[in-house]
Amino acid sequence: MSSRRVPRIPEILELIGRPDPLRSSIQRRLDRCAGVVDVRSLARRRVPGAVFDYVDGAAMSESSLRRARLAFREVELTPRVLRDVSGVDTTTQILGGVSSLPIALAPTGFTRMMHHEGESAVVSAAGAAGIPYALSTLGTTSIEDVASAAPSARRWFQLYITRDRSQAEDLLARAAGHGYDTLILTVDTPVGGIRYREIRQGLTIPPRLSMGALADIALHPRWWMNAVTTEPLTFASMASTDGTVGDLLSRVLDPSVTGDDLAWIREHWSGRILVKGVQSVEDARLVADLGVDGIVLSNHGGRQVDLGTVPLELLPRVVDAVGGKVQVAIDGGILSGADVVASLAFGADFVLVGRAYLYGLMAGGQSGVARIIEILHKEIRTTMQLIGVSTIAESREAQVRLRSS
Ligand SMILES: Cc1cc2nc3c(=O)[nH]c(=O)nc-3n(C[C@H](O)[C@H](O)[C@H](O)COP(=O)(O)O)c2cc1C
Repeated sequence: MSSRRVPRIPEILELIGRPDPLRSSIQRRLDRCAGVVDVRSLARRRVPGAVFDYVDGAAMSESSLRRARLAFREVELTPRVLRDVSGVDTTTQILGGVSSLPIALAPTGFTRMMHHEGESAVVSAAGAAGIPYALSTLGTTSIEDVASAAPSARRWFQLYITRDRSQAEDLLARAAGHGYDTLILTVDTPVGGIRYREIRQGLTIPPRLSMGALADIALHPRWWMNAVTTEPLTFASMASTDGTVGDLLSRVLDPSVTGDDLAWIREHWSGRILVKGVQSVEDARLVADLGVDGIVLSNHGGRQVDLGTVPLELLPRVVDAVGGKVQVAIDGGILSGADVVASLAFGADFVLVGRAYLYGLMAGGQSGVARIIEILHKEIRTTMQLIGVSTIAESREAQVRLRSS
């Protein structure tokens, strides 16, 4: 029988552990998050409901987003064992540059609404981690300010072709002049999608102080204090109008854009071009033939068409069709490092993530984005080791299937 003794206070304190006074309480909470889903829960508590729904929501029944996420749950990776995985390398070439991970942070509009530091926080976290970041046409920080927030980060610029072409021309010249090396041309937005959550929340651009918003101040005082004591929320590259983001897009975007407009882009942009929003094998072929550098199989995170195609399901056929010609990326529904490795195994060269980093931003600004990248990095490494691959090239050769097909 074990002999017993009176517990000693210092030993108990040692077991409990002392909080590190140099780590802020939000950093401690971020560190306790096991995965992206935990950061999402933290984000939900930190920002007003309308802001969370703007990020978390998708078009109409939200089926496009739900299916994109569910497709990842149908993935079956075949682990290979007895392979030396002691030296895993997650670096890869993305559009002619080295990236520490097969990930780029997707363009997202209205980012300073999620956290007052907005795009500057995101580009700084991306730069520190050695992955590219794409600034949106609907950004809330200017092309110039994002460049000076993280001069050494790899920066891309995302363009929506607007009715007023001189505005797009000006944006392209400024992006090229400030070291943005890749243009993302988003083509799944002839008009804005219809998002019920935004309409129900009454979220307008710029946000208005409704009675509901006033009540929310009591619940999220920190968010409101930051919002009213920093620069007012406006689009940096586009005039704001009343109405939802969808209304604004429908007003300013040019629905007559076709493949021929790429020639116009080429005249005004000499860097690399990535076309984002391809959703069929036919269009992947068409776009690859237009002489671009890459395509992103994307349904805009389910925010545009409802009942659309699922990028992951299309991926193998698109890689077969255009893989040797252009780099193929995928986005939509990626919430873990295993999802990233699954995308590679189905042939993607890299992935974009959107909501995952926005959850981090809402939860804790730059530290939250950095925590998301750290989580994804660890999960990518671990998944690669557990399936017996050591490089991104080997991950693209891993055995994989969708259980439902
Ligand atoms: C809040 C939010 C704003 C977005 N804004 C833009 C945008 O301005 N331009 C664009 O090309 N895509 C935009 N997207 C789509 C993302 O670039 C990306 O395709 C999508 O988020 C990927 O899906 P995921 O969020 O499930 O990772 C936005 C997505 C979200 C969630």
